Amino acid sequence: MTELLDGGERLGRGELAALQLERLRSTLRHAYAHVDFYRRSFDAAGVHPDDCRSLADLARFPFTVKSDLRDEYPFGMFAVDRSRVRRLHASSGTTGLPTVVGYTEGDLEVWADVVARSLRAAGARPGHRVHVAYGYGLFTGGLGAHYGAERLGCTVIPASGGMTARQVRLILDFQPEVIMVTPSYMLTLLDEFERQGVDPRSTSLKVGVFGAEPWTEAMREEIEERFAIDAVDIYGLSEVMGPGVAQECVETKDGLHIWEDHFFPEVVDPITGEVLPDGEEGELVFTSLTKEAMPVVRYRTRDLTRLLPGTARPAFRRMEKVTGRSDDLIILRGVNLFPTQVEEIVLRTPAVAPHFQLRLTREGRLDSLTVRAEARADATSEERAEAARTIAREVKDGIGVSVGVEVVDPETLERSVGKLRRIVDLREK
Ligand code: DLL
Repeated sequence: MTELLDGGERLGRGELAALQLERLRSTLRHAYAHVDFYRRSFDAAGVHPDDCRSLADLARFPFTVKSDLRDEYPFGMFAVDRSRVRRLHASSGTTGLPTVVGYTEGDLEVWADVVARSLRAAGARPGHRVHVAYGYGLFTGGLGAHYGAERLGCTVIPASGGMTARQVRLILDFQPEVIMVTPSYMLTLLDEFERQGVDPRSTSLKVGVFGAEPWTEAMREEIEERFAIDAVDIYGLSEVMGPGVAQECVETKDGLHIWEDHFFPEVVDPITGEVLPDGEEGELVFTSLTKEAMPVVRYRTRDLTRLLPGTARPAFRRMEKVTGRSDDLIILRGVNLFPTQVEEIVLRTPAVAPHFQLRLTREGRLDSLTVRAEARADATSEERAEAARTIAREVKDGIGVSVGVEVVDPETLERSVGKLRRIVDLREK
């Protein structure tokens, strides 16, 4: 196995720390010299790149948040001349302007390298066929996966998202070993295999590399069992690069190794912003270490996780599977609830399929939440009623709040074609 590792993956922790500090200092200098926003924000905080003499000094620098990127729309965060920018991507965001990100040739090289490294950790090998069903376009998923798979020496099938019946056809005809897709769209594919009368366990697929949205261990079990594949997690975000910031190793499936030679992680208290020690849960913050076109300093991801020591790649720390984004947190009558907590309950309830939606409504001044879960095709009406009672009871006992539950007919909830929208908010603003 070790002969498969690249130079970065073989670093010792001490060597890595030295490399990180050197790269961090040069990133801070680059950002300060070439991006007005960073010059203003460092000056306002009374810090200068020269103040960073150890990795811990990074905590003295100010955070960057999504609205900062929006305020600089479209190119205000770029640190290089426009002639050096080879590619743009943008993330749509739920409100207002998208955030735009740019890449130099060097950035695209690094991106392909980290995705190749991620795919190798997932179990892909040169010569494998990789079916990419992440969307191609301004979204970073498709093209990010694509160039990484080529870099590893795989044959890429650039299917992009959508046209579900054709996806199934392509998988049957082209015989890929690896699929890269959102976990929710994988479930849509599952239905389509069954609709076409094909046993999903009988395909050529061996590994699925799933990310771009939160998913649970229960979902992993469901997908692994129904498709007879290994399911591993890939994480990333456009502002930091795209897919390939962190990746779970297939041999351990114990959280995602962060490619720390390029992306420096911190976990902070989401309220106070204080840096938390490894092992404590909080908001994940990234500083890019090698990005040229758009360096990011202490970018607040809003993703909640904790940092753990490395295992299968000892040089790099792991992040625990992301349980939720602070944006997806539902506060229902004072009780905090993440969609992933409901996912775990729905997936272990017999008689319902792994498809559900959370509907928020408001009556008077009181918010209510209804879990709408889809019945499995063979469920009887008694089983459906029992499932509704079970879900309501487990949410009450496990999360501590009363919710309504409707078990709806099979094939009635909207299916994912990419990133799934779990929460339907019908409250009047
Ligand atoms: O979703 C990049 C990506 C594409 C990652 C394909 C993995 C696979 P954005 O559209 O900018 O970029 O969305 C980033 O998606 O902050 C997380 O909230 C969420 N996210 C991404 N990967 C995971 C994951 C891409 N594995 C936002 N688990 C991030 C949970 C994830 N959430």
